[in-house]
Amino acid sequence: MRSTVRAASALFMLTAATTASMPALADGEVNIYSYRQPFLIQPLLDAFTQETGVKTNVIFAKKGLGERISAEGENSPADVLLTVDIGRLDGAKQLGITQPVSSDVVNENIPAQYRDPEGHWVGLTNRARIIYASKDRVQQDTITYEELADPKWQGKICTRSGQHVYTIGLIASMIAHHGEARTEEWLVGVRDNLARKPTGNDRAQVKAIFSGECDLSIGNTYYMGKMETNEKDPEQKEWAKSVKLLFPNSEDRGSHVNLAGVVLAKHAPNKDNAVKLIEFLSGGNAQQIYAETNFEYPVTPGVEVSDRVKSWGDLTPDTLSLAEIAKHRKTASELVDKVGFDNGPAS
Ligand SMILES: [Fe+2]
Repeated sequence: MRSTVRAASALFMLTAATTASMPALADGEVNIYSYRQPFLIQPLLDAFTQETGVKTNVIFAKKGLGERISAEGENSPADVLLTVDIGRLDGAKQLGITQPVSSDVVNENIPAQYRDPEGHWVGLTNRARIIYASKDRVQQDTITYEELADPKWQGKICTRSGQHVYTIGLIASMIAHHGEARTEEWLVGVRDNLARKPTGNDRAQVKAIFSGECDLSIGNTYYMGKMETNEKDPEQKEWAKSVKLLFPNSEDRGSHVNLAGVVLAKHAPNKDNAVKLIEFLSGGNAQQIYAETNFEYPVTPGVEVSDRVKSWGDLTPDTLSLAEIAKHRKTASELVDKVGFDNGPAS
């Protein structure tokens, strides 16, 4: 028995209550730490097991998994970590808990802009950070990120915190395109167009459009699907009905996209199966299941987006590499503080 299996055994016993059924530990398995919710990934994992015979064990948590892998060190049972956002993917690399994925299958399926040049993270699906606009109060059907700083939007924009990973990714992409000085100017302009201090999540901003507090908000695409289909909280369907999606910069460089993706754990006890899983997730079949369950965009060229996602408009993704965006995240975060973005408009 490998030493890592011992750790795996203890860990998965403890968490058995949180998962549907715990398969017996055997060589044919892979241990998945996931920030992505079980309902999202289970259909994929079922398909993976069916195709390969490899069993999957999942530990889901909302935070702390990277740190946990780090603390577990060489005895970590984790084979892969599933997460969202370049900030967290690159963060895992910086934390030193990853190893490069070396796979021709993955390299063929996933375009280079969505992979770490050194292979430490692999993008699996795309989400775009776009503009939600009031159907009633916003006439235009196109927009640019640059235009969000135009005084014509004064008091009309809502957004979540400037320090949230999603916002940082967008600001980092602005730095990559325009440099730090111009991005700072832009950020000041956007700040002064805010209707209120940044607060709440992406959906809370759409609610604010619905209630008339603002006309535009910045948000990720898939939240439109989550609101449109929300049976638990049907009011969200009304929020969704009050807005249209504008895909910024469609006519020039394209809209900022970010990733959901995977890393291979540095001490993966089932490395071969982990690579098998990553290869499977990069394939068209899996991409489609993933994209349809969470209203995301497949990263594999040629895989269709779902009809619902298509109905929101056409996405032209910015081709900037996510590794380039990752490089500017720190500066982006510093700019947010420097301009006091989260304090709202200066005047
Ligand atoms: Fe999200």
